[in-house]
Amino acid sequence: MIQIAPSILSADFVNLARDIDVVTRGGAHAIHVDVMDGHFVPNITIGPSVVKALKSATRLPLDVHLMIESPERFIPDFIKAGADMLSVHIEACPHIHRILHMIRNAGIKTGIALNPGTPLGSIAEVLHLVHFVLIMSVNPGFGGQPFIPDSIDKISRLANVIRARNINASISVDGGVCESNARDLVLAGAQLLVAGSAVFNHSDPADAVRRLISVTRLTDNL
Ligand code: DX5
Ligand code: ZN
Repeated sequence: MIQIAPSILSADFVNLARDIDVVTRGGAHAIHVDVMDGHFVPNITIGPSVVKALKSATRLPLDVHLMIESPERFIPDFIKAGADMLSVHIEACPHIHRILHMIRNAGIKTGIALNPGTPLGSIAEVLHLVHFVLIMSVNPGFGGQPFIPDSIDKISRLANVIRARNINASISVDGGVCESNARDLVLAGAQLLVAGSAVFNHSDPADAVRRLISVTRLTDNL
C-alpha cells in the first residue's frame, strides 16, 4: 500500500491544524514535518514544541525529518514531543550507528535520509538498522523546488539492494513529488511519497492528496 505524507512546510503556518485536517480528509497517511537548523540546510523551520502541538492536533503519524547537525542533541526532545517516524541525514552523522540505535530503542520508526549527491553505498553498513530510507529528490532546505529526475534510478537501485539483501526497510521519497512523477516513483520502488507544494499550493489540497493516491494505485492503472 502506497502512502502519502503531505509536508507542512508548504502549509499555512497560521492555520496548521486546519490544513492538516484538510489533507486528512483527502486520505493522507502521515504528516511530514521538516525540521531545519540553518546549519545543515540554509533555512530554519520548527522545533520540538511545534511537533508537540501538532501531535495534539492529529491522529496521523508524524514523520519528522531532521535536517540538522548533531541530531543526537535533539532526538530525545522530538521523541518526547510525539514523533512516530524520525529520520536523520547520513551527511550530518559521523556516528550514525549510535544515532540509529538511539531512535530504534525508543520504539519508533527509524529512518535515514540521503541528499541527492550522496551515494547509496554510504548507508550500506546500517541499512539493516532502519525501517525506512528517505531519498531526497531535491537538495533539502526549501519546498517547491524542481524534482531531480536521477532520483528515480537511485530508488530502483536501492530497491534492488533491499531485495537482494532481504532487508525489511521501505523507501520514502521527498522533494518535487507531484502527480506527474508519483507513478514512476512507485514503479521504481518508493512506498511513501512526501509532497509539500504539490498538495498545499493546490487550490484543493484534499483533492491533491486523493489524486496522488489514485495515480499511484498501480493495479488500476496498468
Ligand atoms: C525539502 C523538504 C521537503 C519539502 C518538500 O527540504 O525536506 O519535505 O517540504 O516540498 P516539495 O514537495 O514542495 O518539494
Ligand atoms: Zn522533508
